[in-house]
Amino acid sequence: MNKKPHIVFIGAGNMAGSIIGGLVANGYPPGMITASSPSQEHLDAVASQYKVNTTIDNHRAVAEADIIVLAVKPQILEAVCSDLASPLTDKTPLVISIAAGVETRHIEAWLSKELPIIRCMPNTPALVSQGASGLFANEQVSTEQRQRADEIFQAVGVTEWITEETQMHGITALSGSGPAYFFLMMEALEDAAVKTGMSRETARKLAIQTVLGAAEMAKQSDLEPAQLKRNVMSPGGTTERAIQSFEEGGIRALFETAVGAAADRSKELADLLGKK
Ligand SMILES: NC(=O)c1ccc[n+]([C@@H]2O[C@H](COP(=O)([O-])OP(=O)(O)OC[C@H]3O[C@@H](n4cnc5c(N)ncnc54)[C@H](OP(=O)(O)O)[C@@H]3O)[C@@H](O)[C@H]2O)c1
Repeated sequence: MNKKPHIVFIGAGNMAGSIIGGLVANGYPPGMITASSPSQEHLDAVASQYKVNTTIDNHRAVAEADIIVLAVKPQILEAVCSDLASPLTDKTPLVISIAAGVETRHIEAWLSKELPIIRCMPNTPALVSQGASGLFANEQVSTEQRQRADEIFQAVGVTEWITEETQMHGITALSGSGPAYFFLMMEALEDAAVKTGMSRETARKLAIQTVLGAAEMAKQSDLEPAQLKRNVMSPGGTTERAIQSFEEGGIRALFETAVGAAADRSKELADLLGKK
């Protein structure tokens, strides 16, 4: 059997911890994973939980890396990459950045144009292994490296590859920001249900389970969401009345405006991060 590539995480916070957890749960050997971070606290957490290797020295971490996952905050990515450029001279590990909004051309400029680089936009449900990640590869990435990256992010959810990096703004607006849209819906459903006389505890429990159940049904079914919706709507029934209210209230236009606004903001932030 082929030896697994050595994966090095630069940054050992929430996202790195979740991905490491997903990999180890899926049988990835902890000895082939290293996490690097300046504070011992984050390192101790991943070491005790997942038995992976740790170091506070990014240079040491990347020395044996086949894959480097950049999991630091976007604002410090330039400094982290500039510092790694020299240790990566003459090496060509696959570099995967999960930093929101930072374009591959900037990572290439900070590290090297010759490196295979993948940009990934995961979302917060990755923290509970239910993430939805969008991925983009630069021209240096091989088919095998793509598969490796896919394996990493499938450990914490589903993956979708895009062919144009500009599509990352749409990914950010849909799945990146999307969990918050559904939290908003749960909040609104809960408040509305309380107004019908239900206790808040009951309303919250039922609202959360209803979102989860609907998502699971949509995932398992061959039917489109529009048909699943119609299946719940008997003529003259309660659902029909509610859906009519949503449509009359302009729910579709509202989604279009909100997702468009998020995509526009993603473009603005990418420009700002690139100028730093
Ligand atoms: N969280 C999400 O839901 C989410 C979703 C999509 C994308 N992302 C992206 O994922 C990245 C990480 O987010 P996060 O939520 O995991 O952040 P986080 O919990 O704050 O983790 C960041 C980690 O980077 C470490 N770090 C700071 N400076 C470093 C350096 N010079 N070298 C190595 N490590 C360093 C931090 O160390 P100390 O704190 O110990 O100093 C910490 O371990 C971000 O770029 C974010 O845009 C996150």
